[in-house]
Amino acid sequence: MTRKVIIDCDPGIDDAVALCMALFDPRLEVVAVTAVGGNVSPEQATRNVQAILDQLDPPRRPRIGCAGETANPLPADARHIFGNDGLGNNDFPCIEHHQRHPAEKVICDEVRAAPNQVTVVACGPLTNIARALMRDPDLPSVIGQLVIMGGTVSAPGNVTPAAEFNIYCDPASARTVFRSAMTKTLVPLDVTTQVVQTFDFLDQIPDESSRAGSFLRKTLPYLYRSHRQYLGEEGIHLHDAVALVAATDRELFELKQMSGDVEVSGELTRGATVFDRRRLPQSRPNMEVAVSADGAAVTDCILRSLGEAARAT
Ligand code: RIB
Ligand code: CA
Repeated sequence: MTRKVIIDCDPGIDDAVALCMALFDPRLEVVAVTAVGGNVSPEQATRNVQAILDQLDPPRRPRIGCAGETANPLPADARHIFGNDGLGNNDFPCIEHHQRHPAEKVICDEVRAAPNQVTVVACGPLTNIARALMRDPDLPSVIGQLVIMGGTVSAPGNVTPAAEFNIYCDPASARTVFRSAMTKTLVPLDVTTQVVQTFDFLDQIPDESSRAGSFLRKTLPYLYRSHRQYLGEEGIHLHDAVALVAATDRELFELKQMSGDVEVSGELTRGATVFDRRRLPQSRPNMEVAVSADGAAVTDCILRSLGEAARAT
């Protein structure tokens, strides 16, 4: 029996890779893809979700949830890493879909339609997840599992010394989600940066003869260039793809029950994820956290999934 998933994302090339993996994984049924502002604006994130689905044209087209505008402008973006359009400046065409439903409504609808069966993989700021909780306060009792790419345990941040990008962009929503009763798995930078795709990865992804291979080969080279130019790295981190593998192949990760929270303000600490390791009643764990991974095996998983996508497109 396939497992129902919702991919909540702010495409972003690594989001797009995770989506490409999920859409063609025979173990998964992607019932919805919901967009959230982060790497790019909310409107561009919605356009990118539509564009990726148009490029990949999966046999079962998932519902699309549109990113809503945020109360305050996003405090950062990642266009220097992913390109002005978020997808390597390919300006993929996007067919406007008339049925524009808010992301949080789609999340609530799909979770309610399959109680305790849906895994939500959050690959961007947690704005939509917090809004879904506000829309349906009982959501924690009917959602299967929430897998979050975000935060750090002891690794440095990537948008500030203290904070990881997804949490930094909307710390208030992240705190709401961390403090909720949802069954949560956090995949922090400590783990996603353990998984490095060096240049040989580009030779191993599917060739241009498939839609998936063509899409990957149009987008990934941009990421290698930006990682070298802005991060001084000879390789890339597909953070969101690693988070998806944590949802499908958890045996490749060491997971610990931990008590996590989010700093929502602070000149230096906004968006920092803080873990209480004291042995006190109030330090009771509220999530499981991936603390290490078999990097080579995770990369093999990513390549296998992309191979499935190529065979299907
Ligand atoms: O910090 C990495 C996260 O920020 C990833 O989800 C990437 O897509 C960006 O959104
Ligand atoms: Ca992302």
